[in-house]
Amino acid sequence: MVKVTVCGAAGGIGQPLSLLLKQSEHITHLSLYDIVNTPGVAADLSHINTKSKVTGHKGSDQLEEAIKDSTVVVIPAGVPRKPGMTRDDLFKINAGIVRDLAVAAAKFAPKAFMCIISNPVNSTVPIVAEVFKQFNVYDPRRIFGVTTLDIVRASTFVSELIGTCPSSLRVPVVGGHSGVTILPVLSQVEGTEKLSQEQIKQVTNRIQFGGDEVVKAKDGAGSATLSMAFAGARFALNIIEAVVAKKTGIVECTYVDLAADVAGAAEVKELIGNDLGFFSVPVELGPNGVEKILPIGAINNYEKELFAAAASELKGNIVKGSTFITESP
Ligand code: NAD
Ligand code: LMR
Repeated sequence: MVKVTVCGAAGGIGQPLSLLLKQSEHITHLSLYDIVNTPGVAADLSHINTKSKVTGHKGSDQLEEAIKDSTVVVIPAGVPRKPGMTRDDLFKINAGIVRDLAVAAAKFAPKAFMCIISNPVNSTVPIVAEVFKQFNVYDPRRIFGVTTLDIVRASTFVSELIGTCPSSLRVPVVGGHSGVTILPVLSQVEGTEKLSQEQIKQVTNRIQFGGDEVVKAKDGAGSATLSMAFAGARFALNIIEAVVAKKTGIVECTYVDLAADVAGAAEVKELIGNDLGFFSVPVELGPNGVEKILPIGAINNYEKELFAAAASELKGNIVKGSTFITESP
């Protein structure tokens, strides 16, 4: 029994993400939760002739049933940005939404692998971690901030410049998921030595602010949904491959509590300074989630400057998320 619950399933990301998950032969039950419209989305998807049973659950009265005993919970619930907003501007609304969903998961699916898409990811992941701690069910190997869209974008943008196949080009992107906290490590990508320093700076900036490109183009109608659904499905399906199909050697950069693998995180901590609890790092996935945190590896002087510029914003975002739970009455 492999139950995957999508929270926010009727939304711009939730619908195409659920469609992509419906195609998996590993999933036996696709549970769709939202505060609106899930009966319709579920009825529609349920006609697709793949293995999973699809159920729709609407409103908080049905949250327990939706989430109970999930293997994987994916959370793209909450409001998206409009032009002129930062991801942090979404905290006011999304922090409470993510907290309530995390409480339900901690109570009814404490062993689930939690994939957090809702922004600001830098803060919403610490929120989920603190909620799980309060319920004494915290396992840092099972809670992930989904930063896969940064990696997908980086492959696309860098391939355009160096003329490689985007689907096979792996570009490590570490750090967080907002502006300067997004840290592409282009010096490790073969082919980028052909680029001038000016081109490296431009493409780094494009990766860091790729989300803004979409927000601007959508002109008030939201942020990335289709590319995020693609990236979110890739991440959730990789978790399922590692956990259910026991496939080894799957590596994704994802935003995790560095306590998930203390030994593996030592190199990362040295690189970033010891006081950041959460960071997106290359992670080898396994049956328990984070199997190993892999080294980020060598970075050049320009990247060192980027890392230094990310630290204080990321730290502030993490503290804001954690204290939202620990200091709430
Ligand atoms: P959307 O408004 O289209 O959909 C959000 C859905 O969440 C809606 O259907 C809404 O009804 C639902 N929702 C609201 N409150 C809820 C609750 N309490 N419980 C369950 N569902 C609830 O927005 P979207 O474009 O799908 O974006 C969703 C979130 O994902 C935003 O916060 C956005 O910033 C974020 N996002 C993250 C990434 C990333 O890379 N991690 C990429 C794109 C978007
Ligand atoms: C993205 O990177 O596209 C998302 O985080 C959505 C946004 O607000 O930019």
